[in-house]
Amino acid sequence: MRDVCYKTTAVLCGKNISVDGNIVRVFETGAGDELVKLFFDPERLDYSSDAIKVGAYTVGATPDGRLRVCRADGKTVVEEYDGDATVYAEEKDFSLASLEGHKKENVRCEYRTQINIKLADVDCVYGLGDKAAGVDRRGYEYVQWNTDDPSQHNENYKSLYKSINFVLVSGKGGFYGIFYPDTHKCTFNIGAYKADLMFIGSECGRLDYYIILGETPRDVVREYTRLVGRPALVRLKMLGNQQSRWSYGSQDEVEKIADGYAENGLPLDYIHLDIDYMDGYRVYTVDKTRFPDLRMLSEKLEKRGVELVAIIDPGVKSDDGYAVYRDLSNMNGLAVRNGEVYHNAVWPGDSVYPDYFDREVARYVTETTANFMRDYKIGGIWCDMNEPASFNGPLPDDVMCGEYCHDRWHNLYGEYMARATAAAFELEGKRPYVITRACFGTSAPFTTVWNGDNQSLWAHLKASLPQIATMGVCGFPIDGVDIGGFGGDCTKELLIRWIEANIFSPLLRNHSSMHTRSQEPFAFDGETTEIYGKFLRLRYDLAPYLYDLAHSAHECGEPIIRPMFYSYPDDEACRRISDQIMIGEYLTLAPITDQGCECRAVYFPRGEWIGWKGINADVKTRSKGYAAVPMQLECSGLYYRADAVIPMYSGLRNLSEKPSELIVFLGGKAGRCISYEDDGKSVAGGRNVYSMSFDGKIFRLSTVVRGYDSDYKTLTVVCDDKRISVPFDYERRIKVL
Ligand code: GLC
Repeated sequence: MRDVCYKTTAVLCGKNISVDGNIVRVFETGAGDELVKLFFDPERLDYSSDAIKVGAYTVGATPDGRLRVCRADGKTVVEEYDGDATVYAEEKDFSLASLEGHKKENVRCEYRTQINIKLADVDCVYGLGDKAAGVDRRGYEYVQWNTDDPSQHNENYKSLYKSINFVLVSGKGGFYGIFYPDTHKCTFNIGAYKADLMFIGSECGRLDYYIILGETPRDVVREYTRLVGRPALVRLKMLGNQQSRWSYGSQDEVEKIADGYAENGLPLDYIHLDIDYMDGYRVYTVDKTRFPDLRMLSEKLEKRGVELVAIIDPGVKSDDGYAVYRDLSNMNGLAVRNGEVYHNAVWPGDSVYPDYFDREVARYVTETTANFMRDYKIGGIWCDMNEPASFNGPLPDDVMCGEYCHDRWHNLYGEYMARATAAAFELEGKRPYVITRACFGTSAPFTTVWNGDNQSLWAHLKASLPQIATMGVCGFPIDGVDIGGFGGDCTKELLIRWIEANIFSPLLRNHSSMHTRSQEPFAFDGETTEIYGKFLRLRYDLAPYLYDLAHSAHECGEPIIRPMFYSYPDDEACRRISDQIMIGEYLTLAPITDQGCECRAVYFPRGEWIGWKGINADVKTRSKGYAAVPMQLECSGLYYRADAVIPMYSGLRNLSEKPSELIVFLGGKAGRCISYEDDGKSVAGGRNVYSMSFDGKIFRLSTVVRGYDSDYKTLTVVCDDKRISVPFDYERRIKVL
């Protein structure tokens, strides 16, 4: 989390207020969590103010002493709740219901800290990360406590793997965000207790939160990501197709998967090694019987443009004969309880947990990861089980990492594991390839994410769209779910609809659990391979468009996949759409997510929208409003805006290939875009920034930043049925119509 520089500090309604840009920090004296490193200078407090200007807003008090943020015209944007917000423990006897196995849904308590915000009838509340529900969180309660629970996640799940304590409110008086940086367990009740009350309750956390103001969701997300840190620039290859399974159990099996892709003409960039590559689940080791020469396998695959990603878990096998265990024990680098190393169980059985918060341990993990990747030529690390998972019951609160109790470090554990891992890539001057399952709101600069153990269910396919789009709004643009579903057997129809719906998911990985049917695209029938392949090719063709969006995510925190409200905040109809997404501003995708369904309603925001040929049966130009669109099994609802200017590639088998042709797809109407070219992997390498525009007749490309020797030899412009190719140059003008 960044140290923002507070320009004004004052006391209002008994709370300390600091302001930076459009961010208002509200806190009690003494608040500040060293783990999250917040900036606070008590000397600068001004006790005499009764209002503070924040850009176009004023932070002040209502006549009855509640904190309120208003616009210049006096309209309220955010205000504290004005009713009775006390939430008491429920007394009702639950024993009868528990006999039948029911679990208590609402565990109410008295919170040490309770932040109470008033909601108007029309308000929608977005955010809170990976929760398995629609985009609007109103009416639900969530408990932020990173949890490994592989059963069927649905909208009733209060806790999943991540704790992203950020809500973005589309309020009656405008947009605003609230971020609560406390790492303890906390509850976000979004009008579930009382319809007009949103409260954040923490049993031991302090009052310390941020109000983030902005005219649009984009403004709020930009400010929020400035506060928590923006994602590292992703390597281009990471946007390629990835195949995984728990587990490909031998060297031969992994090669067969690569062969399967090649034989079927399907592009592929990564294969994942799940836990069975390890020797007895000891992290950073390799089972030499199953993988006698892992380095050779990596080298062979690399020649085909495919890299390996290896899973690493935090649980370290308690075994004196195992170097990692010995090293961590010798440096006192393990979590302890009552002065003794704390043991629980994970995959290797009796296991201990590294204290990633300790600098020496973090350095050790970084070096061990770097050596492991170097020895076996591993391209990426997948950090799993880092909530942390524990098979012998939950970790007690007094398990210590250094001076911090478990109840305080729990939600940050995944982040710190990922940070130590990402630093191994820095050592090599490479952009990181790290995916994590658990994380906190501040984790995006260090890691990308995936959403854990979903299932092969239509409901989970449906949930994937709002999940990925919401993670984007929460500052995690590179996210994905297990395509086809992790648990359970996937059907042909479900897999096809899944790849259609998730084809622009920034992290594109098909993964499945042991004891389920094989789920690779060619494990079904010819038709499945063909349709899956058609969509993969579309993904690879559009890789430069996604890469440009990844640059903008890195620079300004913009999501790649966006909920409809994000792009069209003033369009009422978009406010609660969960089954349709935007990919940047030029594409919208409305896929089928129901079994047997071959037609669906698609919403067209303002502007002209045209169906993508070969993907969408409907190629009519559509304008504002809903339309019912047929989508047979091989079709999905992909539309481009008429003013689209979209950079594309053609025919790549993987993203290590250097394309020599830059194709620019024009929607037909005047439009523009900024596009990037670099080596796709290094941190310090130079780049070119191209500005491309079309005025309805002439297409122009000019180079705004030139720091990289372009690999492009040909520039092709495609508009309707026209296709014009010219030799590539840094300044180009092409007469199209
Ligand atoms: C966890 C992960 C899953 C992985 C499995 C075995 O359940 O979420 O993706 O395959 O562990 O490592």
